[in-house]
Amino acid sequence: MFPGFIDTHTHFEMNKGTPRQTADGWASGTLAALAGGTTTVLDFAEPEWGASLASALDTWHSRADGVSSCHYGFHMTIKNWNSNLRAELADMDRAGVTSYKVYFAYDNLRVSDGTALEVVRAVGERGGIVGCHCENGDLVTAGIAAQKAAGNLDPSAHPLSRPAAVEAEAVNRWLAVGELAGYPVNIVHLSTRRGLELVRMARERGQAAYVETCPQYLLLDDSRYNLPGFESAKFVLSPPLRGEADQAALWAGLEAGEIDTIGTDHCSFHFRGVKELGREDFSQIPNGIPGVEHRPVLLYTAGVAAGRITAHQMMKLLAEQPAKLFGMYPRKGALAVGSDADIVIFDPEYTGCITAAAQHQAVDYTPYEGFETKGRVETVLLSGEPAVEGGRVVSQGRGRYIRRVPSQFWR
Ligand code: URP
Ligand code: ZN
Ligand code: ZN
Repeated sequence: MFPGFIDTHTHFEMNKGTPRQTADGWASGTLAALAGGTTTVLDFAEPEWGASLASALDTWHSRADGVSSCHYGFHMTIKNWNSNLRAELADMDRAGVTSYKVYFAYDNLRVSDGTALEVVRAVGERGGIVGCHCENGDLVTAGIAAQKAAGNLDPSAHPLSRPAAVEAEAVNRWLAVGELAGYPVNIVHLSTRRGLELVRMARERGQAAYVETCPQYLLLDDSRYNLPGFESAKFVLSPPLRGEADQAALWAGLEAGEIDTIGTDHCSFHFRGVKELGREDFSQIPNGIPGVEHRPVLLYTAGVAAGRITAHQMMKLLAEQPAKLFGMYPRKGALAVGSDADIVIFDPEYTGCITAAAQHQAVDYTPYEGFETKGRVETVLLSGEPAVEGGRVVSQGRGRYIRRVPSQFWR
């Protein structure tokens, strides 16, 4: 039995201009989450350029409220910074939004180092936490241009355009921002050994830094960029999949307790007609892959059943630590009197196989097609009421917004 799992990183109904719209909206995405034992998701609200944080919060509520099948909260994306946005942080606190994300990559999203510093200070002094997408945007732009100039236009160019150094540089810079700000920082979707080494060194200097990685960086590798035809587009996400040495380092980091949370970065674009937008130019492939449904069983199979981590470590990674870092503990992330009674009953003996045909995710593929799995989420109670029985989802639209408090840091 586990406390309901928390996915710290989803992008439901992410619209980057039709047809660059994610396949999963709030209805299918949260149903899939629930089917896999995830009872709470934290999705990224994103204001339109120049718009208020409140406007993004309203938009995300209008999409999720009454629709979401699991409980939910929102991280807030900061794309630019000014005194009005700063003043809104108090409103966000009252609304239960206590975590933020900035990007060092993507031309329309990335912030300067100076802005990042101000955001970490402003959020940190309120007890919140800022996460960063750590890739150096200028180096990515140069990397894409270099691949195109060399005539490499297929998906195999994607990882070459953003190698490990691109992440490592940004992790180092982000840690420097946190150090100068004097507040803890979070690194989302960490994918490299080099990035983890930098975190280790910062912690040894006494800095508080938190790390999220994702199942794809543990279970999929960069050989997926050499598949026949255009298949590799199914694995185009950022940061890209890495090699075996990075995977091994991340597993070692999990075992050693150096990684704090595992989110999916669920960002599901159909292969047909959407990923295919980049058939002639890999840089036009919408970035992101699905995973919200399969994270717990994947971690159980490759982590617990394989003897790499204990079931208790899995519980901490998928429930307790996310709940603490994002201000939901012990309401979430614990099996205790007074907690919310989001409960997963797991059958460790079940054997299965992941297929797109059998998934609840409303996307036309899964990157884990054919993965043999051990264990299954048998029963889920959502706020004490049955939500999954015998592996079948039996309730929809019962998710409630989680008003979060400041982070409960433990490092
Ligand atoms: O490729 C990815 N990860 N897409 C989703 C957006 C992000 O950077 O988290
Ligand atoms: Zn990101
Ligand atoms: Zn993301």
